[in-house]
Amino acid sequence: MKAKIALLAGDGIGPEIMKEGVKVLSAISKVFDHSFELISAPIGGQAIDKTGNPYPQETHELCLEADAILFGAIGDPKYDNDPSAKVRPEQGLLAMRKQLGLYANLRPVKTFPALYAHSPLKPERLEGVDFLVVRELTGGIYFGDKGLSENGEKAFDTCSYSSEEVRRVALMAIDIARERSKKLCMVDKANVLATSRLWRRVMQGLAAENSDIDVEYLFVDNAAMQLIIRPNQFDVILTENMFGDILTDEASVLPGSIGLLPSASVGNSTAVFEPIHGSFPEGAGKGIANPFGMIRSVALMLDIQFGLKKEADLIEEAIEKALEQKIGTPDLFPEAPVSTADAGQWITDYIQKSGN
Ligand code: IPM
Ligand code: MN
Repeated sequence: MKAKIALLAGDGIGPEIMKEGVKVLSAISKVFDHSFELISAPIGGQAIDKTGNPYPQETHELCLEADAILFGAIGDPKYDNDPSAKVRPEQGLLAMRKQLGLYANLRPVKTFPALYAHSPLKPERLEGVDFLVVRELTGGIYFGDKGLSENGEKAFDTCSYSSEEVRRVALMAIDIARERSKKLCMVDKANVLATSRLWRRVMQGLAAENSDIDVEYLFVDNAAMQLIIRPNQFDVILTENMFGDILTDEASVLPGSIGLLPSASVGNSTAVFEPIHGSFPEGAGKGIANPFGMIRSVALMLDIQFGLKKEADLIEEAIEKALEQKIGTPDLFPEAPVSTADAGQWITDYIQKSGN
């Protein structure tokens, strides 16, 4: 097949992991005879430095005409340590999600037996963990009215949702649950928040219309605890934007490193595939960034966006084999790590060998 892919490497370790993702994608295209046209564009701090805008119009136009977008990471301490900064790299990512209408972020979480020993949790808690978080991505407190009083002593962020915003992402989660184990857990804070009560009302209506799906509800504080106590009880988790952000960082502890988790942001326009981790500025340029979350995002893209299941499975198989052979960056194997480039090369070689 032929496809045009926008590459938005971004900040910090973004460019390093993107390089490994592209290496793997090129190996796949050779072995399976696909043709991917790759076009890079700036986003985040990188784009602010070049154009003053963290999501320049040219980047948006490229995203609109691409068949898929690969995204690295965003964020720079230069801005984190300056609360008065008017433009921030993160605004680039948020603007991209909003302008492309990517209202659902799918974050699959599974554990790898080869890494059980590296998780802070006991192996028996990690067995059979394989769930998907559907995080609402273009609403809630991330996008509500916010501000600072004139004297700078009061600030506010507003969380707001419309029933339609809830409905479209809930329907997507229901469709996904139908393809999996038909179990859906909605996470909210309906005992306190009005928005959560709206989420519940909408979900209860949809649950009644989709009675083949078993829907249960958890408060977010309890869900945070359940994710650690008995993570294998979950299959599909549906939640709002900020709860999903926090719970998926927490969930990344289960496999052993946040550097392993991929995600897909989908909705009305070109889908974005990105690892869930941040830009890890302290690690940039040192060859210690884990490229597996990025590489697994490439696999997710091949699977979800292009229907190339065999190709995606081969990448996942390569990752599993690498982990079995203790090939990984310092976050995974601190005793005997390999570099970012070597970890990516190992996966690339595995794919090339399988093709011969
Ligand atoms: C993520 C990130 C972003 C978010 C940041 C960088 C804005 O943490 O993709 O989870 O909070 O959504
Ligand atoms: Mn996050």
